[in-house]
Amino acid sequence: MIKLKHLFSVLSLFGISICTGQPQAGMDRFVDSLLARMTLEEKIGQLNLPGAGDIITGQGESDISPRRFERGEIGGLLNLRGVERVRNLQRVSVEKSRLGIPLLIGVDVIHGYETVFPIPLALSCTWDIPAIEKTARIAATEASADGVNWTLSPMVDICRDARWGRVAEGSGEDPWLGAEIARAMVRGYQGDLTRNDEILACVKHFALYGAAEAGRDYNSVDMSRQRMFNEYMLPYQAAVEEGVGSVMASFNDVEGVPATGNRWLMTELLRDQWKFDGFVVTDYTGIPEMTAHGIGDLQSVTEQALQAGIDMDMISDLFVKYLKNSVESGRVKPEEIDRACRRILEAKYKLGLFADPYKFCDTERPARQIFTPEHRAFARRIAAESFVLLKNEKQTLPLAKQGRIAVIGPLANTRANMVGTWSVCARENSAATLVEGLREVAGKRAEIVYAKGSNLTYDPALEERATMFGRSLGRDGRSDEELLAEALEAARSCDVIVAALGESSEMSGESSSRVDLHIPDAQQALLRKLAETGKPIVLVLFTGRPLILNWEQEHIPAILNVWFGGTEAAGAIGDVLFGDAAPGGRLTTSFPRHVGQLPMTYAYKSTGRPLQSSGFEKFRSNYLDVSNDPLYPFGYGLSYTTFAYGPVTLDRTSMTSDGRIVASVTLTNTGDRDGEEVVQLYIRDVVCSITRPVKELKGFQRVALKRGESRRIDFEITLPMLKFWNAHLDHVAEKGEFEVMIGGNSAETQKKSFEFL
Ligand code: BGC
Repeated sequence: MIKLKHLFSVLSLFGISICTGQPQAGMDRFVDSLLARMTLEEKIGQLNLPGAGDIITGQGESDISPRRFERGEIGGLLNLRGVERVRNLQRVSVEKSRLGIPLLIGVDVIHGYETVFPIPLALSCTWDIPAIEKTARIAATEASADGVNWTLSPMVDICRDARWGRVAEGSGEDPWLGAEIARAMVRGYQGDLTRNDEILACVKHFALYGAAEAGRDYNSVDMSRQRMFNEYMLPYQAAVEEGVGSVMASFNDVEGVPATGNRWLMTELLRDQWKFDGFVVTDYTGIPEMTAHGIGDLQSVTEQALQAGIDMDMISDLFVKYLKNSVESGRVKPEEIDRACRRILEAKYKLGLFADPYKFCDTERPARQIFTPEHRAFARRIAAESFVLLKNEKQTLPLAKQGRIAVIGPLANTRANMVGTWSVCARENSAATLVEGLREVAGKRAEIVYAKGSNLTYDPALEERATMFGRSLGRDGRSDEELLAEALEAARSCDVIVAALGESSEMSGESSSRVDLHIPDAQQALLRKLAETGKPIVLVLFTGRPLILNWEQEHIPAILNVWFGGTEAAGAIGDVLFGDAAPGGRLTTSFPRHVGQLPMTYAYKSTGRPLQSSGFEKFRSNYLDVSNDPLYPFGYGLSYTTFAYGPVTLDRTSMTSDGRIVASVTLTNTGDRDGEEVVQLYIRDVVCSITRPVKELKGFQRVALKRGESRRIDFEITLPMLKFWNAHLDHVAEKGEFEVMIGGNSAETQKKSFEFL
């Protein structure tokens, strides 16, 4: 309290009054008056975001010695956590610097904090928008209880290329669904910043990062603006409309200009068109990387970044190093510095940090609010909802809670691997292993027999690269033959085999692009041997991306894709395998048959030579050696029950721009269990001034039906669903025929047409 008084008195000396939660005018007055007192160096200091090193998310170290805070050279810190740590550095900034400006504390709180939820790709497979919003709300509660006031999430990059490891971090291939999720995440993190358990969000990576050529991380992106707007931009724009407080520039170039220095992106589109009023931060060392992109020396790229519209420099310290000189030599105008500084100060004001710099430093909160039983119970529920049942022949699943169950595979007995790629704040060893989870759920009448069976891969060098951040699975001292022999013995002695195979969590995520999308070699060999035993097998597949599963689909009776389910994944997998919960996920990214099909989406264009049948057709758009279809399409996923769709009906056959059409379908649960289905609405613009996809998702409903129950599901079709960006980049709907398709996945729909007048 004394400290707070200190701050008030320092600021009142300068005639600054503090008010929070007040309208724009109050903030403007406050920031104007503060800016008027700041030196050029202090203003530039606000634009500087060094790393604190509590969490490692990239290369290089920052100087965060106290004198830098005292001189006002630091506007925020990346990767700092813990109430005491934050309080101490906040105190130096507030009490020892001339103007006492508090710090932003940014952390990658991506899919939970200490309570880790499934990876974002998995969360998107729930299609459960309120539940996804709740994960963000819980993450904000936990992070804010630990001193963090800014999360570098949501990541909303659309990705249609499974080679790109960061497909794990986003919501899949579809912009409509991606936009719904972007909005939900922003609401969850920062719906009400007057509270002390909500924090500033940051939508990233702006823009088009998920379209990296050849799926290689950080690679170039170049595409027509039509494609950008129709297929990639929607989720970023949705986050901006929802009021996201900050935007992060992406590493890639766009139309030949790195995003970090791309004025069209950062100013013309983001500010002028979308009216974004928060601040823009670079990605990790984004500014110096522009020299490697080959567009200038450090001085000039630093200026280019600021002038393009970047407000905060993550890690590189180059704003502090160069901008003073840029202003003094007239290449940068003082107003350009003021503009960026104002945006940072406004963010701090909106967060309430001027009113109380220690707003997020309550030492009693961590014990009460982090990793609580309620948060963990929710994580377990949503993990089960995110698992996608890809195959379930002869009702192999659910398993009975009895007999001997062999749990085999290098992913069956690890903790670190459960939590997934961006779980940098997970408590060490807080996740149960799959073996423990299955034992807990199966109870006493079942015996779980574990054998490792193989290493992650035969290649130790690949394994090391794939477990770089200390998430080593531990290479077994035994030979491949010994591991296999032990597993086969265990398998033969059991009634059923649960094979826990797939990627290690570091095989997807940042800097984890792959061209071979099969289950790694040693595990594939193990699976084939297990299949030869003739025992029923359930493949529990861990992965952060679509894998190629042709052989598995043909030979393994049951496949449950569990992604990386977070701290409660093991229990959730047990719940689903033993039928206490139903697998609820539907794919938000197509699973290819061959890596050569990539990039791939259900929303492809017809071409002038579309296929007319399912076989190969000469002089038509297809491959000699593999079909065009995915193995598992977007929207696909089974349940323990079955659903039947009645015919689609429309309440009218034409629609005007101020009208609407109701499309309906009757859904029946035809199986013998209760279950949930994701009913999906797709629309096709049949004749249009530019070529358009054969279908695009425009609505969905997650519906729970008791066994035997039927329900009519209605979708209201309105003008925004018919709009697209035309050749002039106008957002329009064109008159003519539209098809409406409804179904349980993108490949199995029923359709009806109407006329847009
Ligand atoms: C990633 C960002 C992340 C940042 C800070 C970068 O390497 O691309 O997604 O927010 O590091 O950790």
